[in-house]
Amino acid sequence: MPIKTQSLDATSDGIAAAADILRAGGLVGFPTETVYGLGGDARNDTAVARIFEAKARPQFNPLIVHVPDLQTAQSYAAFNDQALALAAAFWPGPLTLVLPLNPDAGLSPLVTAGLDTVAIRVPAHPTARALLRAFGGPLAAPSANPSGRISPTRADHVHAGLSGRIEGVLDDGPCVVGVESTILGLDGAPTLLRPGGLPHEAIEAALGIPLSLGGDSNKPTAPGQLASHYAPNAGVRLAVTTPQHQEVWVGFGPDCQGAPLTLSPSGDLIEAAANLFHTLRLADALAAQTGQGGIAFAPIPETGLGRAINDRLRRAAAPRD
Ligand code: TXA
Ligand code: MG
Repeated sequence: MPIKTQSLDATSDGIAAAADILRAGGLVGFPTETVYGLGGDARNDTAVARIFEAKARPQFNPLIVHVPDLQTAQSYAAFNDQALALAAAFWPGPLTLVLPLNPDAGLSPLVTAGLDTVAIRVPAHPTARALLRAFGGPLAAPSANPSGRISPTRADHVHAGLSGRIEGVLDDGPCVVGVESTILGLDGAPTLLRPGGLPHEAIEAALGIPLSLGGDSNKPTAPGQLASHYAPNAGVRLAVTTPQHQEVWVGFGPDCQGAPLTLSPSGDLIEAAANLFHTLRLADALAAQTGQGGIAFAPIPETGLGRAINDRLRRAAAPRD
């Protein structure tokens, strides 16, 4: 039986209704500064299991735990000096830290997929923060999209992917960052596990040491980072300066005159990240409408947020199972 998925406004009434759903073990799509998350009570095994089911996500894939502040985070994970320094510098914000799990903290073992570490983050979005306060507990929240598909940066993206499978969606407009949080492993030498909304250069500057960038996300340390992800229906080619006749070209910067879509006309990486997933959806719709063969992205520089953008585009372009 499909569930009726409520649309909730980001008013105090809407946020209170979302918190009630979460307390009853239900699931709510909610905005963060990066992408919309699919939230469920991280202490409730059934709620967490339903997140996997709603997304049709492989069970072995651990989830990020969202909390309102560092103090709450410290009840779930062990913070060393580097973790404390990064939390002081970048929380609330688009940085997830993977830290040793406090096994007595009461998180559902499904959240960590049985690992002895936990991925934890303090989001900056005011509605996410208000929801965490109203709910009063930790929220497990992967991106609110069917597994392997394009991440949601607007409430209607969440409805399009998960309507009938979750209790509600809290709508607070488009996400400003537009790509998921940067994930940093800190249970050993600081290791970039997923490039994301906080450029790794900023983390290196705060720590005063270079990060190990070798965290290959297809290895068990970050099992969610499968090669094919963010997949539109149309095929994707990257670093294309001369698109083929039948391709939908997505530009970046002023050299892409004539492209029907662009991530940023001026070549601004922040604007491009914020536009990325919505533009990927538009390009897919355009390709389907016009019967065009595929989507071709112009080259994006591999610096700052460009690293996260290229990571997502490579996964969108990867061979599918
Ligand atoms: O911006 C974001 O991070 C969004 C919003 C909603 O906060 N959330 C998000 O969650 O992207 P999700 O579940 O789609 O990504 C979680 C990633 C996965 O790649 C997973 O493998 C990794 O975090 N992860 C979670 N726990 C981990 C752990 N203990 N060790 C290594 N990687 C972990
Ligand atoms: Mg995701």
